[in-house]
Amino acid sequence: MSEELSPETPEESEEPIKQRKNGLYPGVSDELAENMKTGWADTELHGLEPIAQARHTADRRAALSARFPGERLVIPAGNLKVRSNDTEYAFRASTEYAYLTGDQSQDGVLVLEPRPEADGGHDATVYLLPRSNRENGEFWLDGQGELWVGRRHSLAEAEQALGIPAKDVRELTAALKEATGPVRCVRGHDAAIEAALTDKVTAERDEELRVHLSEARAVKDDFEIGELQKAVDSTVRGFEDVVKILDKAEATSERYIEGTFFLRARVEGNDIGYGSICAAGPHATTLHWVRNDGDVRSGDLLLLDAGVETHTLYTADITRTLPVNGTFTDLQRTIYDAVYEAQEAGIAAVRPGAKYRDFHDASQRVLAEKLVEWGLVEGPVEKVLELGLQRRWTLHGTGHMLGMDVHDCAVARREAYADGTLEPGMCLTVEPGLYFQADDLTVPEEYRGIGVRIEDDILVTEDGNRNLSAGLPRRSDEVEAWMARVKQG
Ligand code: GLY
Ligand code: MN
Ligand code: MN
Repeated sequence: MSEELSPETPEESEEPIKQRKNGLYPGVSDELAENMKTGWADTELHGLEPIAQARHTADRRAALSARFPGERLVIPAGNLKVRSNDTEYAFRASTEYAYLTGDQSQDGVLVLEPRPEADGGHDATVYLLPRSNRENGEFWLDGQGELWVGRRHSLAEAEQALGIPAKDVRELTAALKEATGPVRCVRGHDAAIEAALTDKVTAERDEELRVHLSEARAVKDDFEIGELQKAVDSTVRGFEDVVKILDKAEATSERYIEGTFFLRARVEGNDIGYGSICAAGPHATTLHWVRNDGDVRSGDLLLLDAGVETHTLYTADITRTLPVNGTFTDLQRTIYDAVYEAQEAGIAAVRPGAKYRDFHDASQRVLAEKLVEWGLVEGPVEKVLELGLQRRWTLHGTGHMLGMDVHDCAVARREAYADGTLEPGMCLTVEPGLYFQADDLTVPEEYRGIGVRIEDDILVTEDGNRNLSAGLPRRSDEVEAWMARVKQG
């Protein structure tokens, strides 16, 4: 760390904090304030094992350092967001920060400080809120005091766990304001850090940093692949949970399905990776139906698109479209089997060296063929594809990169993603669908209100691909048999 980022520790007030920020706890007696200072055991942890991904986060920081030599890089975790008045949404660290540190502390900031030119490279420091001070009342009178929000790592503990030197984050904004030299910051997570850097950064240069970190995440390392598999395995169990309560969901609503899946996500993981889509009947034709407040009826389909996010913030993204009563009707099966065929064609096109677009094109061709065959759009298929006419019933892309963000690598350049080439270690969804809106007068009445999507998480391997979500049956007859099995317990 250069001296520029090591100013004096800000002056600490001698005055005890006598009031919580919201003013609800006035009038602390001097006796109580004195009493609260002492009588606490020393709970410092020594010899902590490094977190499992520490070796990988070091490699990731080294790659970032090589891309931006001589520049100070600032990557914030982000802050709590107000939900209402003085309650906040659950905190989720920024993907960039968690990817580079393995840490998930709110208000944390990673700084890569360039070493003097002769040495090259950067020194990493993670800036964190330390243990609460018990002498000045911060511990029990401040809204972020540990008595209110729970014990934090001490800086020494964080350093051992993360393998990165740790400092007090309350020193950082002053230090950043004073620092000189080129700097880039990942924007959108921490307004105070951005304000401290406002006259030192440009939007264009900051965006280059964000784009680099988006592209760096495209190829997953072994640790990440293991985490994605864990996310998928938990998600498979969450889908089984839903099948088990489908009869009960009929008596309640999509909400019951949402809650059932969420239970699995919280018990086994950190959270859901995105808002679960629990879409019964015609709601399945709304691509991102997350209101989940409709009825669930026998004879309808349930489109369930959901993913568990692991404790390390990797998410699955899986969709199954299930007959609520366990058996597809003839027309539901015809549409389902067409989507299945499109997905098979898409998955077969996922291999190293293939263009990213190949799997999309392969799936879209099958869907266009089916739509022509059913007389819903006039052929030939080539013309339908050229004009994109099939898209009336299948508007979304056939998949996307998957990782810590459900739509991972979202700001990668076109040449590195949509126009790029698949490589081993990339993980993507293949998720074709057909959606006949309830008010679509261009299709026969019996099609209206049917929506089908099948989505799996596919890893590009050295010689092809591996379906991480193969644990959930996809073929219509196998889905029915699986549902019957799971319902029986
Ligand atoms: N769950 C959103 C998507 O499949 O992309
Ligand atoms: Mn998806
Ligand atoms: Mn999905």
